[in-house]
Amino acid sequence: MRRRIRILPDTLANQIAAGEVVERPASVVKELVENALDAAATRVDVTIRNGGKTEIRVSDDGHGMGREDALLALDRHATSKIATEDDLRAVRTFGFRGEALPSIASVSRLTLETAEARGVGTRVRVSAGRIMGAEDCARQPGTTVLVRNLFFNVPARAKFLKSAAVETRAIADVITALSLANLSTSFRLESNGRTLLELPVAADVAGRAAALWGDAFAGALLPVSHTAEGVELAGLVERPDASVTGPRRVHLFVSGRPFRDRSLVHAAERGYRTTIPRGARPSLLLYLDVPEGRVDVNVHPAKAEVRFDRHAAVEAAVEAAVREAMATVASAATLDARPSPPQIRRPGRDPAARPPAGAGDGGAGNAGQLAFFVAAAPDRGTPEVGDHRPADPAEAAGVAAERRYALWQVHDTYILAETRSGLLIIDQHSAHERILFEALMRDFDAGGRPSQRLLFPITLRLSPAEYSVVEDTRSLLEQAGFEAEPFGGRTVIVHAAPNPHPYFDAERCLREMVSELAEGSELTRAARNQYERLAMTFACKAAIKAGQKLSREEMHELFDALWGTELPYHDVHGRPTVIRLSLDELERRFGRHG
Ligand SMILES: Nc1ncnc2c1ncn2[C@@H]1O[C@H](COP(=O)(O)OP(=O)(O)OP(=O)(O)O)[C@@H](O)[C@H]1O
Ligand SMILES: [Mg+2]
Repeated sequence: MRRRIRILPDTLANQIAAGEVVERPASVVKELVENALDAAATRVDVTIRNGGKTEIRVSDDGHGMGREDALLALDRHATSKIATEDDLRAVRTFGFRGEALPSIASVSRLTLETAEARGVGTRVRVSAGRIMGAEDCARQPGTTVLVRNLFFNVPARAKFLKSAAVETRAIADVITALSLANLSTSFRLESNGRTLLELPVAADVAGRAAALWGDAFAGALLPVSHTAEGVELAGLVERPDASVTGPRRVHLFVSGRPFRDRSLVHAAERGYRTTIPRGARPSLLLYLDVPEGRVDVNVHPAKAEVRFDRHAAVEAAVEAAVREAMATVASAATLDARPSPPQIRRPGRDPAARPPAGAGDGGAGNAGQLAFFVAAAPDRGTPEVGDHRPADPAEAAGVAAERRYALWQVHDTYILAETRSGLLIIDQHSAHERILFEALMRDFDAGGRPSQRLLFPITLRLSPAEYSVVEDTRSLLEQAGFEAEPFGGRTVIVHAAPNPHPYFDAERCLREMVSELAEGSELTRAARNQYERLAMTFACKAAIKAGQKLSREEMHELFDALWGTELPYHDVHGRPTVIRLSLDELERRFGRHG
């Protein structure tokens, strides 16, 4: 009788496992580099030929292995990570299979050379999973794994490999991700004799990002950080104005391990809402730490995906971190050619960084009237402008009534402000747009805003689509200050209107709003709900126009109100409201320091 059940020989079992672990040259590189990092390497060198299909060599200066361990390492399930049941529970957090080396060895010609700190080196050669011999060799402490002719014995798999260029790129991506998670290790990638990556030990993520992608990219990154419900998040995200150009780079890490998660990318993008144009794709480097036991990294064979037990809390932390970063001066667009590299630090405004006392009350003299510009919450301020505050409290009190920072309007369109570290250029229309948008959203929460009854009601004749917009949004319009009565026959009578500034043209504003709401636009599609849609459209149409001359008082009101908003540096279209130019940059351009 034929035997139906046989025990699989080890080599075959390893080849089957290899199907999961070893998909392509990049997965070999990933496993070997991870092993080097596990061995506490401070330097990892990777050389490949022909996209890794012909040859992959990974060398490290880690703690190496003695002969017995080297042989065990090539034996399936002989892993040093597991000694007892307790150990097993501990390593579950970091991922464990212990089958990488035997799997790789089963589908290639592999040579392992390794030496411990004070020991003789060992060389083991394996072909298609069969150990061909072990011998002494001379080498520095550390390990080198050479993998040649990947899949030579499984032609069906070899056939599916992509071009050398594509496989090379996948390998570079793997090293990029691992290098971002291991800053104190240096990495090198060489392909067919050419150096593709040269990454020295980095002091921080920005430093590694600069080595990977250049100073300009690293300089456009903003630090983010947030801690809530045991979720700790830190990292760097791209400045909104930089997010519209260049390739996107997204890297997520949990407990130092790279993983993928589209919903976290979406959460970050929600944090950017109204600071970047719809469809802009910001780069993200996010590092998460969650309490042990709250993340399962073994849900994916290549550990590329993880499962959080409270995904919503993680998403919330990511969104909040990005949102907080958007409120900082660093998120403003810049004219600096080489912005100073960001450092990861805890968020929170410097309490000393407030505008001078009295700076936020410019509208107080108009009590009883509508302020020109919607008054700001007084306790928020531009960090930089506040640095002008005199050190002496008596002096501060003495000049509190006066403006102590200088503003200039240029071309009736921009406002220049001197700050301690340089200067700010403010687009008066964009800035007012942000102010009006946030003010109306607050008013919606509070149930509406005051309006002024018009002495002479305005009569608007509208298209059928526009007419139905007025009918449908009547109560929202009313909360925004427009009392618009559909009169039939496509005619609307406006009895009251808001008064956001002295140059406001209520009829034109309402016409333009209704027309945009009827037709739809990038802006109306970017809105999350009907409130945002109306507030964005109102802000955009009602804001003070470019070309409008402003009085000194008006400039200051606008300026102060801007710092009372949540996201002062961004209008609602995803354009900057403020562009900053640092003293450093000015000095550099004028050759004042070298
Ligand atoms: N570069 C290296 N330096 C020192 N020891 C190594 C190195 N590579 C592998 N080893 C040893 O060989 C063992 C087997 O490695 P292998 O990658 O197969 O499994 P693992 O790393 O334990 O688990 P995983 O499946 O998570 O990779 C390791 O546990 C380690 O003891
Ligand atoms: Mg391993």
